[in-house]
This record gives sequence, structure tokens and C-alpha cells, in this order.
Amino acid sequence: MQAPLSGYSDRAMRALARRFGCELTFSGVMLDKSACHKPLLKRDFYKLRDEEHPIGGQLLGTEPKTMAQAAQNFCEMGYDIIDLNFACPAPKVLRRGRGGAMLDKPAKILEILRAVKGAVKCPVMMKLRIGVDESEAAREDFFRICSDAVAEGVDGLIVHGRTTEQYFRGSADWNVIAELKKQYPQTNIIGSGDLFDAKDVVNKIKTSGADGAAVARGAIGKPWIYRQIKDVLEGKEEIYRPDIKEQGQIILEHFELLKELYEPKKCVWYFRKFLSQYGRSHNQPGKVRRELVMAEDEAALLDTIKKWYGI
Ligand SMILES: Cc1cc2nc3c(=O)[nH]c(=O)nc-3n(C[C@H](O)[C@H](O)[C@H](O)COP(=O)(O)O)c2cc1C
Repeated sequence: MQAPLSGYSDRAMRALARRFGCELTFSGVMLDKSACHKPLLKRDFYKLRDEEHPIGGQLLGTEPKTMAQAAQNFCEMGYDIIDLNFACPAPKVLRRGRGGAMLDKPAKILEILRAVKGAVKCPVMMKLRIGVDESEAAREDFFRICSDAVAEGVDGLIVHGRTTEQYFRGSADWNVIAELKKQYPQTNIIGSGDLFDAKDVVNKIKTSGADGAAVARGAIGKPWIYRQIKDVLEGKEEIYRPDIKEQGQIILEHFELLKELYEPKKCVWYFRKFLSQYGRSHNQPGKVRRELVMAEDEAALLDTIKKWYGI
């Protein structure tokens, strides 16, 4: 599946993931209070298209009642799965006691899960990091959160194998994911962390026993990773690798999808963070990345893509 990626996993990124065989995508996290504001959810940007299912919507918050109302609204919008975020390590989120800061409050998390499960009929998942920090107390809290959630009938746990304090430093600990799967074989356990290469993704799924993996940074500027993962899972000798021309076509396709979502100027500006990642798969990454992100408007961007990708 494609992990929730705030500021990235909009309709365009999700559509490309799906085209390359990704089976489940998520929108970026939304604050529960925002999701309680129905006029906001009615904006075209947030609307879900028929072809997007199954899709999960992710919520962030600390109050059971607000989270439950927000989850109901998400279901009305058509989300197939509700995912509760107890993982975000961004300082502005932590300062308000949300996301990854909740991991030392197992009782509160359980209250939220209960309230949300009681409010919706669709599956409810939780996204977790493996603790607030590396202390023994944090580890105990993490396993308590998981056992409470399983007892409460959570439909799946997506676990990023880093602590909140770790942010994105060091490497993700997939041993904890393996341990969790061993303890709760009946629960869907999805691993997350350091999934950049298709063979490695499949290896991590197999060695941890996880039911799946949530690709995150590895899909930014590389939506074809899902097809590669499928190829590895199917034991194909030759793994799909788009040649330069095909890469250019995918970049153009992505840009066209973005044009449905953003104003022309914002579109080029917003696309830069993807372009700089797309450029990495070119055989002259330095020059290509530099020129792609320097394009000021659509015409300049299209010229640059034509020049480097031969289309
Ligand atoms: C730019 C960015 C945005 C993210 N947004 C979210 C989010 O909205 N919700 C969430 O649960 N995780 C979010 N994550 C975390 C990812 O889903 C994932 O768990 C994490 O990046 C680890 O996977 P990776 O090492 O393969 O990138 C985000 C990560 C990045 C890099």
C-alpha cells in the first residue's frame, strides 16, 4: 500500500500509485477539527473519485468525541478505512500533544479507538511509531497500545519502526514489527520504514511476517515501485524499469493530474519536490534535477522534460 504522506499523497499521487498496481492508498493526515468542518470536505480537492477505492483517510487528534465525529464525516465522504495517526513526529504536532506524542498515553488512545469504532461501520486502523523514545517505559506503552487495540478489535496496525524522538534518523527497526506479528498473528500488521527498493520491500515483508508494507518516501518520484514490488512478489526474473522516455511520460502524466488540483503557477511550484526525486532515476541526475526544479512555468518545464527525456 501507499502510506499516508502529508503534502504529497493527493489525488494525483494516489492515481499514479494505483496505475502501477498499488492496492490501497491513503490521503495525507487531516486534523480532526478540520474534518468536522463539512464545507471544507466538500471542496473538490478533498472529494474522492469512484476509481479511487479502496482508499483510507487518516485523522489526527486527541479528543475521542471529535475524532469520532471526524471519522463519521470521512465515511460519509466515501473513505473505506479510517486510520488514526499516533505517529507524526513534526514539532508543531508534538507541541499540541498530538500524533507521536500520544504514544505515552495508552489509555487515551484506547478511548479514541473505542469512540471511533463505535461511530463508524468501516474498518479502523491505527498508524503508530514504536514508542515515544527508546526507553523501556516507552516500549511497554507501545506494546500495551497494541494489545489494547487488538482486544478492542482494531482492523490493522501500520507500524513505522522508529520512535517519535528518532524522527527520521537512524534506521527503522523491523524486528519490533516482526515481534508484533508473532504476538498477534490474527491482526493485520503493516510495516513501514526505509522502503526504497522493491526487493528490499519484499524481503522486509517476508522476514518480518508482516501482512504488507506501506511505501512512503520510496514512492515519491518513483510511482513504478509498486509494479516492481509486484514483479518481485511474482518471482519475475526481469523487474520493470521504465526507460528514460517512459520516465518522461510518467512525469508528464503526473503533471497533467496535478493540473486538475492546483492553479497553474502553484502546480509548477508544488511539483518541484516530486521533480527533484524523479530526476534521481535519470542517468544524468545532477543536471536533470537542477534544471527540472528551476523551471519557472509550465512552458519551461515542458521544454526541460522534452530536452532530457527525449519526448
Ligand atoms: C513528507 C512526508 C509526509 C508524511 N506524512 C504522513 C502522514 O500524513 N501520516 C502518517 O501517518 N505518516 C506520514 N509520514 C510517514 C510515512 O507514512 C512513513 O511511515 C515514514 O516515512 C517511514 O517510511 P519510509 O522510511 O519508507 O519513508 C510522512 C512521511 C513523509 C516523508
